[in-house]
Amino acid sequence: MEIRPTTDKDLDVFVDTLHAAFGLFPETPVEGGGLWWSALETDRCLLALTEDGRPVGTAATHSFELTLPGGTLVPAPGVTAVGVLPSHRRQGVLSAMMRHQLAELRASGEFLSVLLASEATIYGRFGYGPATCTAQLTVPRHRAAFAAPRARAAADAPAADASAAGSDNGSVEVLRRAECGEILEEVYDRYRRAQPGSLSRPHRWWALRAGQPPISPAPRYIAVHRDADGVPDGYASYSIESGTLTVDETIATDDAVFTALARFVLGHDLVTEVVFKHVLPDHPLRRQLADFRAGEVSGLMDWLWVRLLDVPRALTARGWFMDGELVLDIDDPFLGEHDRYLLTVRDGKADCVPTDRDPDLSLDIRDLGSVYLGGTAPSTLVRAGHVRAHRPGAAALADALFRAERPPHCLHWF
Ligand SMILES: CC(C)(COP(=O)(O)OP(=O)(O)OC[C@H]1O[C@@H](n2cnc3c(N)ncnc32)[C@H](O)[C@@H]1OP(=O)(O)O)[C@@H](O)C(=O)NCCC(=O)NCCS
Repeated sequence: MEIRPTTDKDLDVFVDTLHAAFGLFPETPVEGGGLWWSALETDRCLLALTEDGRPVGTAATHSFELTLPGGTLVPAPGVTAVGVLPSHRRQGVLSAMMRHQLAELRASGEFLSVLLASEATIYGRFGYGPATCTAQLTVPRHRAAFAAPRARAAADAPAADASAAGSDNGSVEVLRRAECGEILEEVYDRYRRAQPGSLSRPHRWWALRAGQPPISPAPRYIAVHRDADGVPDGYASYSIESGTLTVDETIATDDAVFTALARFVLGHDLVTEVVFKHVLPDHPLRRQLADFRAGEVSGLMDWLWVRLLDVPRALTARGWFMDGELVLDIDDPFLGEHDRYLLTVRDGKADCVPTDRDPDLSLDIRDLGSVYLGGTAPSTLVRAGHVRAHRPGAAALADALFRAERPPHCLHWF
């Protein structure tokens, strides 16, 4: 088996092999007409070939930036376009590609990688853990009344309270997707820089219309929210069919903007229900409704998977929100590595060094990937039997330490 990068000359072979692995045809547009693979970066695509030169497997990475807890932006190769021909499955082709890819990423200085999984059973063995979740929220319009916000306004309210839901001085305008110009790209970029777990959307995605709505050319209405000065600070991309208004994506640079957009779509005439796709399972919107049961959460699933390639660099890159000390004993069976680190957090910054001290927690690298962005409580993995806590209180301390300033969320599809 040979694994090698593609060149401009064999990108067609790559695309054909990938589509054959999924039983699809490259010329068939995905939802709404976007050719998602047109955003692939030729120099980051791998082909697996048999001894006689037949292409049988594909894998690639996109050059994304990931927002970590605390707002640090780090390079995040987004693994994509993974496929093996049906005739060559379960013979180790994917395993060989993963090994090759992880070694290359490490050699080029990356300390983590991310992916979305077609099936949740594939990537754990390669050290990836589910780190963010997504869901959809369905609200029947006749139960969509909002409760009055109960937080008392304080005369000396700190600036952070300015984003509290409800205090909206902005406006909403409905545009056709084609009329939006650069608005969506700019608003998304502001949003993702402040949202842990989110990914950048490189300009080529927007320019090529490669992706799912609202990136794709699918016809959509866009409710654009503007602040009091007229600057766009949020949008909801939606379409209506058979009385259901479906919002593909709600991007808001603060909570009040999300609320304003939610009020807007929930107030739409001739609609019986509104489906908000790609929201956090515990989105505050449910609690803003007078009837807590009105918002029905469904389609809860993993979204972004994280694989750490350099634990000290990864742990020192993110922000932390309380002081503490933990000894982590980490097993990485796929790469055949086993390390123990002392993680010390002081004033929002971590130090992470090898140690011989007794461990507080023993965990697999995939579980560290799951807790890294603050979206999975380490104690949940202890209770599931995947992480071992060596002393009372260790799991609770880990829960408090790893928590992010807000739950991580990723809604970019790739
Ligand atoms: C998923 C896919 C790439 C796996 O490729 P592969 O070459 O068959 O994988 P490997 O032979 O290297 O398998 C490695 C291990 O993973 C397991 N595995 C692979 N795919 C799996 C799946 N879909 N579900 C459960 N286990 C799977 C294998 O059984 C094997 O286990 P073992 O080491 O205990 O024997 C291939 O089945 C495929 O192309 N599927 C359709 C496209 C797809 O879903 N791509 C992923 C996009 S995110």
